[in-house]
Order: sequence, then structure tokens, then C-alpha cells
Amino acid sequence: PQRSERPPLTVYLASPRGFCAGVDRAIQIVELALEKYGAPVYVRHAIVHNRYVVESLEAKGAIFVEELDEIPETDAPIVFSAHGVPKAVPADARNRRMFMLDATCPLVSKVHIEAERLFDHGHEILLIGHAGHPEVVGTTGQLPPGASRSRRARTRPLLRPRTPRSSAVITQTTLSVDDTRDILAVLQTRFPDIVVPRKDDICYATTNRQDAVKRIAAQCDAMIVVGSPNSSNSLRLVEVAQRAGCPQAVLVERRSEIDWSQFENIRSLGVTAGASAPEVLVDSIIDAFAERFDVAVQTVTTAEETISFKLPRPLRDTTAA
Ligand code: F3S
Repeated sequence: PQRSERPPLTVYLASPRGFCAGVDRAIQIVELALEKYGAPVYVRHAIVHNRYVVESLEAKGAIFVEELDEIPETDAPIVFSAHGVPKAVPADARNRRMFMLDATCPLVSKVHIEAERLFDHGHEILLIGHAGHPEVVGTTGQLPPGASRSRRARTRPLLRPRTPRSSAVITQTTLSVDDTRDILAVLQTRFPDIVVPRKDDICYATTNRQDAVKRIAAQCDAMIVVGSPNSSNSLRLVEVAQRAGCPQAVLVERRSEIDWSQFENIRSLGVTAGASAPEVLVDSIIDAFAERFDVAVQTVTTAEETISFKLPRPLRDTTAA
């Protein structure tokens, strides 16, 4: 349609959105490893939970596997995904004399260290997280089998610690900030001696993206969260938008998946992206709206992010070059 025929649409673009420092680092590790050592580079599990990222890296020569025994005997590097791995995985890789590059987000590693420290101090560990998510599997796998039990983040914590006086709580990094605060409060009421993290273990990126969505949700007729269905922090952004008053919040993985019938009569659209979703996907989705609407983009910034993480030692000089 001609510009004048297109209905007006205000796009509220949440900021911060998209890549966090941990995702950025993880992708860089695979890219630099490909540059430095050549293809193939093996990656255990989707490096980050985004199909576009995985496919782009595959096109450059990365091979994704779920377990180490899928990898033939090789000198090629093996990268562990940003979500972290159980201790048994690097141990197994060492046995097989594999060359490991660990892309575990340093903020996930911090939770791993905390879990071990609390366990060494004699605590039973309660992990709040989504059962089966690779981060939860990785964190649980820092401790001997049976040392921790995971609960679904949104189940009411009716769990009775076996030894309430010496239980300690840790959390997944990508949970709903509000749900987690409620769960921690219930646990503290029921078990006053329980050791809880100072706040929670939710990372800065998860918190900031949820805050930004809360700021715009109520003024948006609809909201698009750019992200893949296996991305925990993206799914949380959809829930946060709905709870903060946006009548219709949907997860969209890429432009071709937009269901236009959902956006027929809107005048305002919120747009954000999960921590693993690249900005090019956001751009292409806004472009798609601009073909149908007379779009005015307004960025709403609730925090500035400056954090970045160091690369693993073998790759540090690669960036300097
Ligand atoms: Fe790390 Fe948080 Fe991103 S744990 S990978 S900074 S979403």
C-alpha cells in the first residue's frame, strides 16, 4: 500500500534487548575458534538457544552435537555451550584428550561455584529452575548425584527440605524475577533458617530485559518477543509482558513466522528480543511491519549495559590480532 494508506503504528522498542554479554562471548568463542583452528569446531549443545545463530555457525563450519560420544577422535576444539555443563562432561573430555573451550557464561559459572561452596559447607541445595533445561542440568551436575533437587520455577514451593536448618537455595539465571522473589519469600517464611542468595541468581541481562518490557507493556496493543521457543529468558519475557498488561504478547522466531491476523487492528506494538536473539532478526521484523504500517519507532531505555566478559585464554590473542 501507499504510505498514506497504511495505518499508523507506534513501535516501542525495549532497551536493553537481545544479546547479553554471555551470549556475545559464547558466539565469539565459536567464531574465533573457527578462525584460529579452522573447521570443524564441535559445539556441545546449541551454543545459545537461537536457531538463526546455530544455523549461521553451522554454515561457517561448526558441528553441533548433544553428547561428546557423537564426536569422532579429533584434534578439533570442542566448545561447551553458554548454559554450562555438568562436571562429568569436562572430565570425560579430558579422558578423551579433547581440546576444550568453555563458553559457559561466567554468571552461570558463578552459580556453579556457589553451589559447590554451599554444598561443601554442609548444605542441602534447593535449585529453583526449569527441570530439564541445560543450565539446570549443568548446575545440578556440579554436585554429587542426589545432592540437589530441582523444582519447576512456577510450582508452589511445597518442597520440604530434608534438613531445613541446613538447606540453601540457588536459582537458574534466566527465571522470572517476580516469580522467583515470591518463591524465595515463601521458602523463607516456611524455613526461616534457610540460606538464600542475597537477591537471587538471576543475571543482570534477564533482569534488565524484564524491566524494559514492564515499562512498555501496558501501552502496547501487542508485543513481539524475538526469540526461539527453547530460550528460557525469551519465554519469560512473553509472560512478563502479559502480566504487565499487554493484551497480546507472542514469541516470534523470525519474520516469516509472523501471524498477521494477530496484528490487524493494532496501533502500538512493543518489540523486544531474548538474550540469545540477534538484532538482525529484530530489524527484519520491524521492516516487515513497516511494509504494512506507517511505523514510528520509539526506543524506551530503562538501563544501559556495559558489561563484557573475557575470552578463554587460548583465544585472547586472536582478538588482539
Ligand atoms: Fe549469562 Fe545471563 Fe546471558 S546468565 S548468558 S548473561 S542471559
